[in-house]
Amino acid sequence: MLDIAFAAPRLPADGALVLPLPAGAALAGLAAEADRATEGAIARALEAAEFKGEKGKTCLILAPGAGLARVLAVGLGKPTDRPDRVIEEAGGAAVAALARAATVAVAADALSASEAAAFALGAALRAYRFDRYRTKEKPEDKPRLAALSVLAADPAAAEAAFAPLRPVAEGVFLTRDLVSEPPNVLNPATFAARCRELTALGLEVEVMGPAELAALGFGALLGVAQGSANEPRMVVMRWNGGPAGAKPVAFIGKGVTFDTGGISIKPAGGMEDMKWDMAGAGTVTGLMAALAGRRARVNAVGLIGLVENMPSGTAQRPGDVVTSYSGQTVEVINTDAEGRLVLADVLWYCQKLFDPQFMVDLATLTGAIIIALGHEHAGMFANDDTLAARLEAAGRETGEKLWRMPLAAAYDEQIKSAIADMKNVGGRPGGSITAAQFLQRFVNGKPWAHLDIAGMAWSSKDAPRTPKGATAFGVRLLDRLVATHYETKTE
Ligand code: BES
Ligand code: MN
Ligand code: ZN
Repeated sequence: MLDIAFAAPRLPADGALVLPLPAGAALAGLAAEADRATEGAIARALEAAEFKGEKGKTCLILAPGAGLARVLAVGLGKPTDRPDRVIEEAGGAAVAALARAATVAVAADALSASEAAAFALGAALRAYRFDRYRTKEKPEDKPRLAALSVLAADPAAAEAAFAPLRPVAEGVFLTRDLVSEPPNVLNPATFAARCRELTALGLEVEVMGPAELAALGFGALLGVAQGSANEPRMVVMRWNGGPAGAKPVAFIGKGVTFDTGGISIKPAGGMEDMKWDMAGAGTVTGLMAALAGRRARVNAVGLIGLVENMPSGTAQRPGDVVTSYSGQTVEVINTDAEGRLVLADVLWYCQKLFDPQFMVDLATLTGAIIIALGHEHAGMFANDDTLAARLEAAGRETGEKLWRMPLAAAYDEQIKSAIADMKNVGGRPGGSITAAQFLQRFVNGKPWAHLDIAGMAWSSKDAPRTPKGATAFGVRLLDRLVATHYETKTE
């Protein structure tokens, strides 16, 4: 993580200086001081570049004087229209533009303490990089930026505002690391081992292997796993930060560490993307780390079903009938519709063991959700309007946007089986909806939302707070959901 420190507002003697500037305002505070020190060079450069502080705009000024190598103005837009998200994006834009600088100072003296913290968070999120497997990158090609000094009017207050954000950023990075790992490194067992390390944060972590899952009767999950040489796992992570005995909130993740499709094998082109078919589980893991890291005053459980979906002589066949942990039987028409089979057993286990206040599952479940919503919104399916509204609001606030999709009994017709209680696919029409209808049969009427994140878990291009690659979509969203509605208040 980018090394972030908060300090008193004093012009740095050299290096790079970021000026977060509101739209249409004269230079003030440190920015005005820097302009005076450079004999008006900064104001002249901004004028020449027609920079007016618009949201998302940046202007880089090289060697304006006073020992400064780079001055970067970043627009904040109008003060009346400035949620934290805009400040975070400005922080991210600054990091993207200054990756070649070694140390960067931010003139945050005109920002509130919480805005200064949001700027730092955006910067940290954008500075993430997964470079574990690059051994030959030339030093001049590596980003140099390692430290960010935030010059705040009240550095102690800004630092206090940043304290709960740091573990959230670390949770995001954990998720991005897990999702980025290649599938020969991250399999169900090694994923579970990484979860075990989270006991250091105070999480209780329980790992179940094939024998325990078979004893429970996880026939749906085990059917998916049976074609792989890598054994399945289910991991249960518990954070007990709330009152003893208070019902937990519950998060469930699809963790298919590689999805070949199984016997219903996928085409070769782009199959490598299916290493991130465990993003739902990765997000649940990062979220649990974030909640524990910031000592959230809530009882939370995170459950992830970890399998590898492979074709082999032991793989399940189209036509197989499996008996899920709930007792309901499923005819497996297409072995590539495996995520719902894994989630079916984990959802049933979750509601049965924990009687949670609600369950939210995350899954890279269907290609159809990408056709419907592209890469802007995750699909949300919910049987509870309050939960849905809270999730939607948290999505707007964090920028991890959700679009509610319908659930309706009429779709059940499509997943009727001639031989079992249901089949695992409902054909192409409404493919994401029939998948959600399938999952609903395993929530036993508990308040529940399903987030289909297939279009959001991985990004092929840079975004202000997210370099391309694993996004960790959902960590900030669900952390916000918990913080806003489910934590007991401080005394
Ligand atoms: N993991 C895939 C869904 C997916 C596709 C995620 C593309 C991200 C990008 C899922 O297991 C799957 O294969 N779904 C099938 C379901 C179909 C067989 C009913 C699909 O979407 O094609
Ligand atoms: Mn699949
Ligand atoms: Zn899948």
